[in-house]
Amino acid sequence: MKEFKRMWIVLGLITIGSFILLGYFGKEVYNEKPPIPTAFVDEDGKTLFTEDDIMAGQSAWQSIGGMSVGTVWGHGAYQAPDWTADWIHREVLGWLEQQAQREFGKSYADLSERDQATLHYDAQQAFRKNTYNKETGKVTLSADRVRSIEAVAAYYDKLFSDDPSLHKLREAYAMKENTLPKAESRAKLNAFFFWSAWAASTNRPDQNVTYTNNWPHEPLIGNQPTAENVIWSIISVVTLIFGIGCVIWIWAFFTHHEHEEPAVPARDPLTLVKLTPSQKALGKYLLIVAALFFVQVMLGGFTAHYTVEGQDFYGIPVADWLPYSLTRTWHIQSAIFWIATGFLAGGLFLVPIINGGKDPKFQKLGVDLLFWALIIVVAGSFLGQFVALKGWMNEKLNFWLGHQGYEFVEIGRLWQIALFAGLVFWLILMLRGIWAAFKAPGDKSLLILFTLAAAAIGLFYAPALFYGEHTHISVMEYWRWWVVHLWVEGFFEVFATSAVGFIFYNLGMVSKRAATAAALLAAMMFLIGGIPGTFHHIYFAGTTTPIMAVGALFSALEVVPLVLLGYEAFDNWTAQHKADWMKPMRWPLTFFIAVSFWNMLGAGVFGFLINPPISLYYLQGLNTTPNHGHAALFGVYGFLALGFTLMVLRYIRPTMKWNEKLMFTAFWSMNLGLILMLFTSLLPIGIIQANATINEGLWWARSAEFIEQNPIIHTLRWFRTVGDVVFILGAVAFGAQIVKGLLHREGGDAPAGKTETPVVPAVAETAPAVTITETINS
Ligand code: HEM
Ligand SMILES: [Fe+2]
Repeated sequence: MKEFKRMWIVLGLITIGSFILLGYFGKEVYNEKPPIPTAFVDEDGKTLFTEDDIMAGQSAWQSIGGMSVGTVWGHGAYQAPDWTADWIHREVLGWLEQQAQREFGKSYADLSERDQATLHYDAQQAFRKNTYNKETGKVTLSADRVRSIEAVAAYYDKLFSDDPSLHKLREAYAMKENTLPKAESRAKLNAFFFWSAWAASTNRPDQNVTYTNNWPHEPLIGNQPTAENVIWSIISVVTLIFGIGCVIWIWAFFTHHEHEEPAVPARDPLTLVKLTPSQKALGKYLLIVAALFFVQVMLGGFTAHYTVEGQDFYGIPVADWLPYSLTRTWHIQSAIFWIATGFLAGGLFLVPIINGGKDPKFQKLGVDLLFWALIIVVAGSFLGQFVALKGWMNEKLNFWLGHQGYEFVEIGRLWQIALFAGLVFWLILMLRGIWAAFKAPGDKSLLILFTLAAAAIGLFYAPALFYGEHTHISVMEYWRWWVVHLWVEGFFEVFATSAVGFIFYNLGMVSKRAATAAALLAAMMFLIGGIPGTFHHIYFAGTTTPIMAVGALFSALEVVPLVLLGYEAFDNWTAQHKADWMKPMRWPLTFFIAVSFWNMLGAGVFGFLINPPISLYYLQGLNTTPNHGHAALFGVYGFLALGFTLMVLRYIRPTMKWNEKLMFTAFWSMNLGLILMLFTSLLPIGIIQANATINEGLWWARSAEFIEQNPIIHTLRWFRTVGDVVFILGAVAFGAQIVKGLLHREGGDAPAGKTETPVVPAVAETAPAVTITETINS
């Protein structure tokens, strides 16, 4: 610890400082969120929507899967419109039509461009003007606006019902018939959508910028990027270049260039210890990783198919039972579950190793209990979502047992609490083993960092409980991203770096000093960008310029460590050649190399593509986001969880040999499938959509008309099937390897039959008294 004291101090200051920023500006989210008026009234004082209507509408929206059906403020699914942008456009058109008739006696469409431009100016004045009265809490709307709002509401009422005249459109939007069956609930849903549109088109009091920083792009009312948006985007790019420059200078001047390479041990240190019962019990975790992974990719293919066939699967009408909103929800949730399971298994595998080669008391029981608890949460939450989206769930229970409607944290609140309890239980199982190692001599920095990252993963699920069903959506977004963003761009990265560093050190591949210094340095870089960078998700979620500024500035720094990961990949690559006994680690290591590659491309490059405020202003809600989401979430944490899974398998079945054909197919099909998905579908479609948003507005880029009349998009969407099939093949091969590996019989602890001669002897003579960690490099 002493040796790294200075680094710990810096890391501590970075973490505290970053959380102060995140918290301080979080207060701004609370203070400056768009008001929810007590009522929207017409000029005669007649009420259109009340605050209660809006809140009930938010609940109704959640009950149909919320962000799984289109988007609100750009967050959610990429099929169907962004309801905010769509509502604004329709309402403005309705308003323009009335003005055109009144002023020119003609339809708006028949006016000259000059006359249309005059009306656009008027529309801008009418819509952007804020008529919210702070005293009464009411917003007064002109008669023209009210007429237009009622027309849009009537149209939405039809769209979310089973009205035959909009059947084709529902198909194009992959919405099931009767998406929201009760007319009363649809009226509330309208209140909520209207409010989101009002906030996005109305100026903040005494300012010339809307509550959502002028997002979405809508030229008809002058919703254009703000000057601050452009300025902070430029600063963001420059910061990135500066950050990379600094790291290279520090690298060149301050790091020790002589490579301290430890003598590689003669035998695999991890096999010096007998497998413990808790480690052997991890087999079922691996099976669940493979099974959920398979289910997830199949659901992905199924969901993608809905983008071309709305309500059918190759002609079979399935949307009534398994609508797009449900398959997409399950697709995302199963990803989270199997990735988490892979991480949990990786962590639990290390516990006895850290604990000196033996299980803490009742560890196996704990491992088994956690497993079954996980199964209950997966099954329960999936069932709840099914019941909710079938329309069978009691409205009052939906938030607790059904579908919360918020992307990545959609499972019912009760399941969330259970999941949180499970993560804390995992943490306790981890800590019991780690505790003993703390008492052994030697520097503990790496272990502490690993422990802190594991603790943060468990504890940082808690912010998902910091909002309720009726929490203001800006506040909800703030906390939602505390979970999702801080996990993937903060603590998971630190966990990954320290866990892999820890494994390498335990294998005797790197010195403890080098592993510790590298992990601490990486943690600093990840957290300084990652923690305040959370704000890049809420530039336009009812927040103000400072949030955009902090988000743009710090999230640019997130990219710095990611573009330098080639070094880590190289270390992984060379490790497998260092000793004969490393050969069985070849495939897990290859997966770790993929992690570095996708961290650079998927997280770093594709993340930064959408990250500067000016990019996201136009790209929010387009296919460039799932392009990044897939490349980063699967590319980094998917491959990492699969790598952990393979590593655990390799040790709990020590005499097993990889089936080279299966592994080759698994690895390359997944990589190729992902590349095809990105480069032949998501990225080009995203770019074509970006063009449409920049020219016309967001409403157009996501409209059925634009998507369907564009032959390139149509072809690309079909073509996506090719990438999906290649990918699925990889998942199947991976699953086959896991099953084959788990079925492999060890023949006691001794090497199995002649054909499968182990590369590594698996039997430990005695379990060492001190931790292996200490025996290797001390
Ligand atoms: C391994 C690390 C990362 C993972 C796993 C990851 C994953 C994701 C996911 C799943 C989403 C949501 C996608 C959706 O709503 O469909 C997202 C959004 C986003 N990510 Fe990342 N990301 C990572 C790193 C980064 C980095 C380094 C940046 C840039 C500095 C970045 C910038 C963004 C932005 C700006 C959004 C918001 C897009 C939107 O709301 O439209 N991400 N990311
Ligand atoms: Fe993020």
